[in-house]
Amino acid sequence: MILERRNFMDVKQIEAQLKQTKFEDQIPDLKKLVNIYQLCHSGANEIGTKLENLDDEYSMNYDHNPIHHMEERMKSTGSLFEKLKRKGYTLTIENVRDHIRDIAGIRVVTNYIDDIYTVEEALSEQSDVTVLKRKDYIENPKESGYRSLHLVVSVPVFQSKGVFDVPVEIQFRTIGMDMWASLEHQLSYKTDADPKKVKEHANNLKDYAKELNDIEIRMQSIFRDLQSH
Ligand code: GTP
Ligand code: MG
Repeated sequence: MILERRNFMDVKQIEAQLKQTKFEDQIPDLKKLVNIYQLCHSGANEIGTKLENLDDEYSMNYDHNPIHHMEERMKSTGSLFEKLKRKGYTLTIENVRDHIRDIAGIRVVTNYIDDIYTVEEALSEQSDVTVLKRKDYIENPKESGYRSLHLVVSVPVFQSKGVFDVPVEIQFRTIGMDMWASLEHQLSYKTDADPKKVKEHANNLKDYAKELNDIEIRMQSIFRDLQSH
């Protein structure tokens, strides 16, 4: 299993990113923003390591890797500010700290649906991990057909000046759900395309989400059977 880690963004990188947004002049204290990014990045690393360790342990004890691969991502400063504005908050460091819990994100792509809940449980039970929010879009898919399990957890990060609880967003999904979400995401960016065609694709994708779910449930059942013998 591969965890694709990200480098944390330093002041220069964040400055460069901000130049491409319309928020360039409204940012209070860049150093403080970079501190938050660095802290959240450490949080993602902590969670990433926990997940890697769980996957290793499962592979040793059960001869099965629940996690296929993982991707870390840091929210771009552009979408960070868009989100604050959308939620009705002004662009201040305090508001970033208090209201944004997905600066650091990890996408955990599993082989089967059971793997999602197995890994979720093993991670949530760890004494230094606190689940702050849980949304199960597998149990209750979105209108688009989107399926995944979303968690926001908090994990302590030890720094030179003390220990800080840091939020990390985790999206759990199977390879099938991931394939679907990538294509649907691509479609949502086709704003210049013929709306009739986009609607047709969206409708088809909604059907395919159900079909994929059915196939995944059937494949899961074959796998369960194989594991039990
Ligand atoms: P915000 O993070 O504040 O927007 O709200 P939220 O946390 O309630 O959002 P949500 O639970 O919808 O998760 C947001 C993330 O999930 C997005 O950034 C996407 O990565 C993913 N996502 C949610 N809905 C869809 C969808 O319909 N299609 C695709 N492709 N991805 C989705
Ligand atoms: Mg979110």
